Amino acid sequence: MREGALPVADRLRATGGQGGTDVDRTGNGGGDGSVIGLRAIVLGAAAGGGYPQWNCRCAICALAWDGDDRVRPRTQSSLAVSADGRNWALLNASPDLGAQIRATPALQPRRPGSAGGRDSPVRAVVLTNGDVDHVAGLLTLREKAPLAVFATAETRAAVVANPLFAVLDANLVEWREIALGQPFAPLPGLDVEAFAVPGKVPLYLEGATVEIGTETGSTIGLSVRCSGARLDYVPGCAAVTPALAARLAGADALLFDGTVFHDDEMLVAGVGSKTGRRMGHLPVGGADGSLNALAGVPAGRKVFVHINNTNPMLVDGTPERRAVESAGWTVAEDGTEIALPVRGTGEDTAWPSPPDTPTRTPPTSVPASISSPSMTTAR
Ligand code: MLT
Ligand code: MN
Ligand code: ZN
Repeated sequence: MREGALPVADRLRATGGQGGTDVDRTGNGGGDGSVIGLRAIVLGAAAGGGYPQWNCRCAICALAWDGDDRVRPRTQSSLAVSADGRNWALLNASPDLGAQIRATPALQPRRPGSAGGRDSPVRAVVLTNGDVDHVAGLLTLREKAPLAVFATAETRAAVVANPLFAVLDANLVEWREIALGQPFAPLPGLDVEAFAVPGKVPLYLEGATVEIGTETGSTIGLSVRCSGARLDYVPGCAAVTPALAARLAGADALLFDGTVFHDDEMLVAGVGSKTGRRMGHLPVGGADGSLNALAGVPAGRKVFVHINNTNPMLVDGTPERRAVESAGWTVAEDGTEIALPVRGTGEDTAWPSPPDTPTRTPPTSVPASISSPSMTTAR
């Protein structure tokens, strides 16, 4: 890559404009791989296309292209989770995965591997659907590292039907089928349970008619448990049913679909003909949007992820951002970190300091132990 050609988000990080939290992100963890509690890093907070989107100059994208300090660029949808700070599972593999790993020390190779220098803390991927923004990053992971890919039968079939994904070496990449409601462990210390959420098939499998809101293995949410704490991850959801609300209640952290704020915002912006609902995404705002639907659902932290580039809640100070924040939600950024307590101690655990930098401090500047670059970086 020629100098100066780094993606926007990377350039920001390279200049200290983002990612400069006071949290250790080297991933040195418990040293011996022991469980330290659930750690999550939002690798990409945007929906498909990212923010700003390569071909878009809608009012919201224009702010990012012009460097307006009310917005931060975001890459496409993915979350990394770990129980020990050393071994990580990706919840969805974004087309921006290469840049996300380059921006995230915890996910970078730490030691020469046994086979010619290759090594990665990324051990597993769990897919929530077959959408391009959630699976294209598998192609980034093709270069001869052992990996387990967990997916429902529906999502696996959608992905492997494309011969391009045969580049994943079958001797090293093991597909593991997720059965709804049956917990599995993508990594030691992490227990994950998948549940169907109202959704639809991936865009590239849509036929002449599309059923929106079906509850099948095509669109799932994940409950990630570690040491008694629970993070629920639902990056795509067409509706909040009473059963879904009941299931999400009590999560220590809820990361939920924030694709559009207004159902018709893409039409109003003149950038598309589909509503959020037509795309299988419940809008955030409105009488029956997710803010209202989830208002009575208790959760330790509520964070919107998978945010489309047309969504005005991306912009600091807008009425939409204020509505979200006054309801107790935050809008995720790339690099937002969540550390959940080990139940029984009554306190959030700090991110570990690596042995060679003992002066690094745990997160202190933000509520509880969620941190976001915008909250911890002077701009
Ligand atoms: C979505 O979330 O609706 C999809 O990522 C759309 C797409 O495939 O671009
Ligand atoms: Mn998407
Ligand atoms: Zn745009």
